[in-house]
Amino acid sequence: MLQGKNIILGISGGIAAYKAPLIIRLLHTAGASVKVVCTQNALEFTTKTTLETLSEHPVYADVFDRDFVHSTEHISITDWADLMIIAPATGNIIGKFASGIADEALSTTYMAFNGPVFIAPAMNTKMWLSKAVQDNMAEMRNRGHQIIGPDEGNLACGYDGAGRMSQPDEIVDAVKEFFSAESLLEGKTVLITAGPTVENIDPVRFLSNYSSGKMGYAIANEALRQGAKVVLVSGPVNINAPAGVELISVKTAAEMHQVCVDKFADADMAIMAAAVADYRPKDAAEKKIKKSDDEISITFVKNPDILADLGRMKKAGQILGGFALETDHELENAKQKLHNKKADFIVMNSLRDANSAFGYDTNKISVIHASGDVKSFELMTKTEAAKHIIKEAAALIK
Ligand code: C5P
Repeated sequence: MLQGKNIILGISGGIAAYKAPLIIRLLHTAGASVKVVCTQNALEFTTKTTLETLSEHPVYADVFDRDFVHSTEHISITDWADLMIIAPATGNIIGKFASGIADEALSTTYMAFNGPVFIAPAMNTKMWLSKAVQDNMAEMRNRGHQIIGPDEGNLACGYDGAGRMSQPDEIVDAVKEFFSAESLLEGKTVLITAGPTVENIDPVRFLSNYSSGKMGYAIANEALRQGAKVVLVSGPVNINAPAGVELISVKTAAEMHQVCVDKFADADMAIMAAAVADYRPKDAAEKKIKKSDDEISITFVKNPDILADLGRMKKAGQILGGFALETDHELENAKQKLHNKKADFIVMNSLRDANSAFGYDTNKISVIHASGDVKSFELMTKTEAAKHIIKEAAALIK
């Protein structure tokens, strides 16, 4: 299942490091090659001999180790690897990753690696819940890293709570799942919009919406995982684009429209997940609007509807999908949208569903096809929802 995959196992210095050799065994059994990079502290909890025997490769724990063929092992090993797992990831190593510190073998290797990273944190509950670690974890998620655990339970320090490293088989299962993509979009180009648009009122005020971009970015991630070339046109968001996508950052609906119209001709599929402002101020003031006792009114003019315009441009064989975020008459409105904008499918979500849509990490979606088929899904993570959306969309390619 992991045949031919090269994996770096990064081990940092927590007690859960005693389980790291099991991760090597499981990865090997699944067919992967494994090289270990670890901190010096990790070797207090497991031994170099164990790790080298099981991985069948020298352990890289010292940047100045002259026994390596390459004097810059942290660079050559990252050229070799398809994926990096950090297990256990201590609060300290996560902090170094988040702030760009590279002062030993593991943090240096992490900095040089730009492929998929899986992090299995393990530490005392109080440390895990600290603001420092939680802020750093937010940064890890924003970089698109996959986080496994931590689990709750009895900790080595005697505490009960969150902080136990996930079991080795769970960690390896997550990696297997990652590589299980079926190449549904191999050789295809997918254009995706994400995030909000921002329309200036004057140089300091703007009109926008609460879109976080999480759904669109998850779709970009999944399209990439399924082998597509991805062009991601994004409004201002606080998340990083997955490595490997062509990111085009825009601010206004007009800019997003222009880029999409330019890029659509070369795309096999377009999925419009952005929350585009329907209107913009007719004339944005060049200078800051001064406060006065008078009421003010701003005239809004319509923005172009990107999805509708792409619907008009669509050629045979191109697949076009959009979103419908509704507060009422969801299905009716979504079907209307599908028809009006000549889309092949619409992903419907509702602001009435708890923990769904804007800002949340989860979403409850239904995919409505032009054929009349409707597929409804339970509340799930946006990563999971993106998998279903891409699967539904890919099935439409002739
Ligand atoms: O009409 P409504 O805004 O509800 O339609 C939502 C869908 O249309 C989304 O896919 C959104 O990305 C797209 N849209 C667009 N350009 C607009 C408004 C919406 O592409 N100006």
